[in-house]
Amino acid sequence: MHTDEITNWLKETDPARLDRLYARADSIRRQYVGDVVHFRGLIEVTNFCVRSCTYCGVRAENLALKRYRLSRAEIMDCAKRAAMLGYGTVVLQGGEDYGIAPAWFANIIRRIKQETNLAVTLSMGERNEWDLAEWREAGADRYLLRFETSDQELYHKIHPSVPGHPTRLALLRKLRQMGYEVGSGVMIGIPGQSYASLARDIALFRELDLDMIGVGPYIPHPATPLGNGSLALTLPPDEQVPATEDMSYKVIALARLACPDTNIPSTTALATINATNGRELGLQRGANVVMPNLTPVSCRPLYEIYPSKACVTEEPTDCSQCLRGRVQSIGRRPADGPGNRRKLDYRPQPQFAF
Ligand code: 5AD
Ligand code: FES
Repeated sequence: MHTDEITNWLKETDPARLDRLYARADSIRRQYVGDVVHFRGLIEVTNFCVRSCTYCGVRAENLALKRYRLSRAEIMDCAKRAAMLGYGTVVLQGGEDYGIAPAWFANIIRRIKQETNLAVTLSMGERNEWDLAEWREAGADRYLLRFETSDQELYHKIHPSVPGHPTRLALLRKLRQMGYEVGSGVMIGIPGQSYASLARDIALFRELDLDMIGVGPYIPHPATPLGNGSLALTLPPDEQVPATEDMSYKVIALARLACPDTNIPSTTALATINATNGRELGLQRGANVVMPNLTPVSCRPLYEIYPSKACVTEEPTDCSQCLRGRVQSIGRRPADGPGNRRKLDYRPQPQFAF
């Protein structure tokens, strides 16, 4: 695809040109996915994790972090709350935690599907294909697994690999074959991430024909090698992507141009770097999804993948009201129903030159 054009946009600094990019993304968003905003209630089910991603605060080596795993009753309470608040989807997210037994989790998925009308999205890391198949069988509708960067060298530096494990791209293909809607995405401004590689990430979103695309700025966590400087990945300043708010909007807008019919959230990481109106701006520059937090407030501070995360103290009803207000303030409305991707029969070639 047009990775040079995408790179040029990522490097663009002229405010008038950027306004044109954002206006184009907003109009494509309206044309293909409409003015509704889908609410996906996030339940952070466990912060145990066996992996060692060098950017992530819940990595196994972070011994200072108190670990929790929600009970079945707690997860069911959160899901019922989601239904009461009128959300269409719950997202069960967690670290890669083998204390989450596949059959136990399948039972919870089955109960949510029986007792509510919610779509169920999972985001539980690189589980093996038998677990993923069992959860799909139990009724899970979607799976999120970010590929984080398409630069394989950088990928391996920030994800200590497990011998014999399939790659995330291979797993994404498997998930699709199993009948999941598939979501992926990247962090923006990881040390060592070049403009050219971020442009290839965006081209890959389209090649993978993703149903959902989640992107957000990299936020350093002091309890990680990448965040405390013990792992230094440096590029010349003119090549390194900055982990800024503006860069995040550019990536959301370009993802919308590349993938017009995809569901794209305005993420918590964006709300974290601009609490005032980061989420609204994301929604006005290509996004059509928000992810209000449903995790019990007692556990929220412990799901610290990065510091100072938005919504750490707010009760689920607060996040619901807050987001409804924000959505309405920009002339949009909360959607009814689960908000599956309505896939185009024909995908026009994206235009990046304008
Ligand atoms: N900064 C920003 N995003 C992060 N994630 C993990 N750690 C960080 C961080 N320090 C993102 C990853 C992961 C998702 C659940 O959270 O992209 O896939
Ligand atoms: Fe949680 Fe605004 S979304 S307080």
